[in-house]
Amino acid sequence: MDWGLRNRLSRIVRPESGRTVMLAVDHGYFQGPTTGLEDPAGTVRSLLPYADSLMATRGLVRMSVEPSVGIPIVLRVSGGTSILKELSDEVITTSMEDAIRLNASAVAVSVFVGGEHERETLGNLARTVDEGERYGMPVLAVTAVGREMSRDARYLGLACRIAAELGAHLVKTYYCEDFRRVVDGCMVPVVIAGGKKIPERDALQLAYNAVRDGATGVDMGRNIFQSESPVAMIKAVRAVVKDGKTVEEAYRLVEQEKAVAPPTKD
Ligand code: 5RP
Repeated sequence: MDWGLRNRLSRIVRPESGRTVMLAVDHGYFQGPTTGLEDPAGTVRSLLPYADSLMATRGLVRMSVEPSVGIPIVLRVSGGTSILKELSDEVITTSMEDAIRLNASAVAVSVFVGGEHERETLGNLARTVDEGERYGMPVLAVTAVGREMSRDARYLGLACRIAAELGAHLVKTYYCEDFRRVVDGCMVPVVIAGGKKIPERDALQLAYNAVRDGATGVDMGRNIFQSESPVAMIKAVRAVVKDGKTVEEAYRLVEQEKAVAPPTKD
């Protein structure tokens, strides 16, 4: 692995802790104006101080993040489908040249193992890794799971390992029972998505279990920006992932914040 690629990777997974809290706000690329991201600039501004990196599309980055902020960007470069169509029918939507122009620290590509367009999405990943290696750009593979597929260790282990075999430098997947098997079989660091919004304590438990079972961190979106107290929630996630706090200790941060500033009702 060359110097530039390792340098970029270390902006995402900080060497001091070997862990990472990535903030995912790329949902609009197939969902449109996702709840909590209607005004991405506002949402992102308050959360960035507590994130190690931001996962987003180039459109969101350009319009919602000041270049002077300095947050490492994990640029989503696959997409081209919407919730109205077959989601696995993705193409590469952003060139490596543009990723470099945006000073991205990594690029992200989804793979749909077992999906209708499995081969094309794995091809997207492999080609992006080839280009990434040429320019020193790490590639995060996102194991997207079709509705009809079960999120168990057998399936996720298969998807993660294939992503690593094709050269992904980091893999994003879902937490599941027997998660250690997924991590152990993957060869490269694994981060977890939060998935659909669940109660805050449960999301903290998910993050806790994931790092306990070998994850390098989280790449979490909805469970942070759809929380009643997004800033408290990202601080709490960080406390679990990076500071070794228990779920109860971290959840107290969320409760304290809610007590000081209860959510406003329209
Ligand atoms: C889908 C994605 C997401 O858009 C996103 O990053 C998921 O984050 P979360 O599940 O925590 O909201 O990568 O494949």
